[in-house]
Formats: sequence, structure tokens, C-alpha cells
Amino acid sequence: MCGIVGYVGDRPVVDILLDGLEQLEYRGYDSSGIALKCADDIKVYKAEGKLINLRNTLKSHVSEVSSSTMGIGHIRWATHGAPTLLNAHPHTCNCGNLVLVHNGIIENYKELREKLTAQGCVFRSQTDTEAVAHLVASKYAKTKDLTEAVRLATQEIEGAYALCVMHNDYKNTLVVTKRNAPLLVGIGEGEFYVASDVPAIIKHTKKAMYLNDNQIATITPEKLVLIDKDGNELPQKIEVLPWEPVALSKMGYKHFMLKEIHEQPDVVRNILVGKLHAPDEPIVLNEVKLNKETLKNLNRIQIIACGTSLHAAMVGKYLIENFCGIAVDVEASSEYIYRKTVTDAHTLVIGVSQSGETADTLTAIKQAKAKGSHILIITNRPDSAMAREADSLVPVNAGIEVSVAATKSYTAQLMAFYLLALYMAEIKESVDVPTMTSLKAEMMLLPQKIDQILSNTDEVQKCARAYANTKDFIYVARGINFPTALEGALKLKEISYINATGYPAGELKHGPIAMLDETMPVLSILMNGSVYEKLLSNSEEAKARNARMIALTNSNDEKLNDLFEHIIRVPDVQELFSPVIAMVPLQLLAYYIAEFLGKDVDQPRNLAKSVTVE
Ligand code: F6R
Repeated sequence: MCGIVGYVGDRPVVDILLDGLEQLEYRGYDSSGIALKCADDIKVYKAEGKLINLRNTLKSHVSEVSSSTMGIGHIRWATHGAPTLLNAHPHTCNCGNLVLVHNGIIENYKELREKLTAQGCVFRSQTDTEAVAHLVASKYAKTKDLTEAVRLATQEIEGAYALCVMHNDYKNTLVVTKRNAPLLVGIGEGEFYVASDVPAIIKHTKKAMYLNDNQIATITPEKLVLIDKDGNELPQKIEVLPWEPVALSKMGYKHFMLKEIHEQPDVVRNILVGKLHAPDEPIVLNEVKLNKETLKNLNRIQIIACGTSLHAAMVGKYLIENFCGIAVDVEASSEYIYRKTVTDAHTLVIGVSQSGETADTLTAIKQAKAKGSHILIITNRPDSAMAREADSLVPVNAGIEVSVAATKSYTAQLMAFYLLALYMAEIKESVDVPTMTSLKAEMMLLPQKIDQILSNTDEVQKCARAYANTKDFIYVARGINFPTALEGALKLKEISYINATGYPAGELKHGPIAMLDETMPVLSILMNGSVYEKLLSNSEEAKARNARMIALTNSNDEKLNDLFEHIIRVPDVQELFSPVIAMVPLQLLAYYIAEFLGKDVDQPRNLAKSVTVE
């Protein structure tokens, strides 16, 4: 969601900025722009829509921009004002000397706008960001010092921001700062890169520094100076990024989403490495700091997350309650943060987030931390803001996920919950040893079962073609696969724009059954286990209303052949692990439908990969 890049050094900057922005495209955006320090002036170029439009705009300005060696760039996901040229970043002050890009939301922008308008500033856009440009410029008019101007301005800003600022008076200086929005500085030889995320810089350098909230960095080709909000100079913590540029290639797949679905057997293997050696050995979670005493003192667990991560959390609740007998509540972070929750030092709060940057979840985590709860974070980004808040961490090691629709990170989050729930059960001794050994043995077989699904996708593709033109879709399941139904529906909705809904099958007759007729596909996630027969009856009820029936199943039950128009078969698996197996064909179904419909699979409309605004 919005992406920032910046560069100061001695190399031509245009391609560095454009390539960097391209690597951030996965975050989701609807317009873009760059500002370049050229001979005597700063030049700003913007375009609506995809980056190719910005590249085309720049083609007619090659001679004026080609020698520039400092600039900033932005992809914008519209929050305040439509995705138009005027609203696209960079934004400037009225004289055009001060230029900046911004990621986040300025909550007090209306007050700032009124105040600055009264001082004579003329606003040209509807964005919250423009207020910051005028504000920093007004501070600069008094201080004539860009870093100080940024420092003073940020003291008047409420909300979330990552900012990258340049000024015409400075030939080769960028000033960057952040609060509740991601920003890092890549360190090269006589050059620095600024970015919202690693992919934008990894091609150039593996050395980087993550800014903490309220820190301000002043960057010239020779050096970086870091200060805190009071202006005190700070030591710099330089890290080596554990990333390879190759992770960002499609490796021959048509879309990142398909590649990421196919990576899942390895994702499961990876997360087990070092954590589960053999069925009769204990689970090792080195970064989890829970012991018998802390678990004994808990009276509840709260899991907070958004979107796909929320669905993984719902499976997590099922597992923890089942294996550990501790009460678990699961809540969308955006709801959790605006009510009085019963959260205290006896609450374990688990935050789940692929990106580790989702604003609502980050805020919820901070609120819970302030109440004294132990914070455990499950994330794909151990370098993220959420991970930095954690008392305990379970990194899911899924590798970068480029496609906006989460697939492999979901499976990795499920695996993290299996490991965590069994780890806690081992501490609590709440599962007997033979059961524990059999669960671990089953867990170790999951990669080959996913491999089996991926090696034959014919039935899923047939199904995708048969239902691609439907307007609505219902997914039903019960028990531990109810979250699978929600996640399957979410996948379809977000990349094909078909109206899909997940229901607990027992709820159908309490309302949704009214929608069923011969135009409505109903997909039953019929996995062997405690609720199989119940779900079969619910499927009969749907069939009796003429719905078009599809089964996703690991059963050989002959009855299914009469009941269902299409049957997608998956390998047999213990019920508790069935969410991992059942999800893979549902990801593929969503993918093939979207692909068949010619949708922009990896970057669906209106969506952002990293939702850094509340
Ligand atoms: C769906 C999807 C989103 C994210 C949600 C939370 O495919 O990707 O629903 O799951 O925005 O993001 P994270 O997990 O990064 O906190």
C-alpha cells in the first residue's frame, strides 16, 4: 500500500527509481510519480495508473533527466482523493522548492490544511500529504535547515507516515523519517537507497538500516546521520538483509500466485526444519519465550489479525483449544483496537501477519503490550515492525510473497499454529505421548501430500472452466474447515471479483439457503472426520434446492457421486491437518477462474499487499 523509493549517489537515478518502484508494485497502487534533482531545479513527473504510463511520460524528457543522480519516487494507493495526476505524489510546497513522498495517513490533515491555508498556502490536491509538504516548507522558511524543518514538522503531525524529502537548496541530500509505516535505507559505496521494502533495493545492496519510529536520517552520498525526535544523534544499527534477488522472479510460471501456490510443499518443509526433527522428538521454537509458569498464569489467549491471516488465526484457535485447553478468542484487529478488551498480564496476545506491517494489527499489538500482555508474533517478516514489538516470535519462513493474494504465507501460518499449539501442549503435558507422536508424524507427511495435489490439477481446472461465469459462489464447511471455507471464498473474491461467501454449513438453513437455486454453486469442504456426516446432510439440503454441487473431499464414499456435479479429490489426512490439504485446491480454483476470466491475478484492483493504513 503506497511505496516509497529514494536514491542519492553518483549514478543516473531515473532507472534506479523506476526499477525500485516496479519491485514495490505488489503492494498495490493506482498512480505513480518521481521527483529528480536536475541541473538547477527539481523536476516532478507523474502518471495515473500503472508504472508503464510513468515510464512513457519520461520518454519525452530523457535529455533533462538523464544526468540526475538524486531523486525520490512513489506509487500511490488512493486514500484521500481519487487516483488522479494532481493527487499523485511527489507533492510540493507552493514555490516547488520542497518536494516529498509519503506513505501512511495524516490524521490531523484537515486542521493542518486550515492552519496552512490561513498562512497563505494554496492547496492543489485533495491529499493529506500535501499538508505535510506545506508544513515542512513553512518550517524550512524559518530554520533554513531541511533536517530541522522535518523534525519540527513531524512534531505537529498526527497519524502514520514514512516520508522522503528533498529541497532545491540541497544538491545531494535526502531527509527521511517514519512513524508506524515501514522505511529502510540501503547502504552502498558512496550511495544510499531509500525504500518502503527490501525488494526495491536488494538488487543493489544487502546492507541496510531500518528506521525506528520518530528517527530522522539525513543522507548524502558520503554519509548518513541519524537523530531522534529531540535532535540527538543516534548510533546506527546496520543489518545484512537475508534476501536473494532471484526470489522476485516468476521462475517460468505465468503469475507469481501460481508460483507461490507451487512453492507450498517447500514452504512446509522449511518451517519444519530445525523445529521438528522426528515424531518422537520435542518441538523446538527458539524464539518463543513461554514456559510452564507463564502458561499456568494465562487465563486467555487473544489472536488478532486481518484478512487471510485472520482465517489462519481461526484455525489456530481450534488447535490451541483442542491441544492445550486454553480459551482462545480470535478477532479482526480493526475491531479489537476500538473497544475495551479484557486484556492484561494474564493474556497471551498472538498477532498474525504475513507482512508484519498491517497498521490495524500493529496498533492492536501495541495496545495489548501496553496492558502488560506477552506478545507473540507469527510473521513472514522477522524484520518487520510487528516482529520488533514481539516478546516471542514464530517466523514462518515462506520467502517473499509477491502476489497480492496470500497463498503460501497462509499455509506457513497454519504450520506455525500446529507447531505452536503442540509446543505449548508439550509444555503443559496436555496431549498424551502416542497421540503427540502420531500428530507429528502426520505433520511431516504434509509436504508430499501437497505435492500430490499439485501434480494433477486437471479436475480443478475443469471445475474452474465450468463455474468461471457464475456471479456468486458459496463455500460451506464445518469445524476446523470453516476457516477454509472463508479463505477459499476470499481467494475467489479478491482475484476474480465473483461474489463468494463462506458459511458454516449448519448455518445454511438459518438464512442463506434462501439464495439457493440452479444458478448457485455450493462447494462443500467434505473432509473425513467428526463433522463429515453432518456436512453431508447439509449438502443434501443444498442439493434439494437445486444448487450446483461441488465437493472437495478426501473420502471414497460412493454416495458423493450422486450428490455432486464435480468432485475434487485430495489425499487422505488426519482431520486436524485437513485445512492445510483442503486449501491448496481452493487456491488453484480461484487462480484458474481468475486466469480464465483474464483478470490481473497478481495485482487485483483496489487491493494492496501491505495495508499500512488503519
Ligand atoms: C488476502 C490478503 C489479505 C491479507 C491482510 C493481512 O489474500 O492477502 O487479506 O491477509 O491484508 O495482511 P498481513 O497478513 O500482512 O497482516
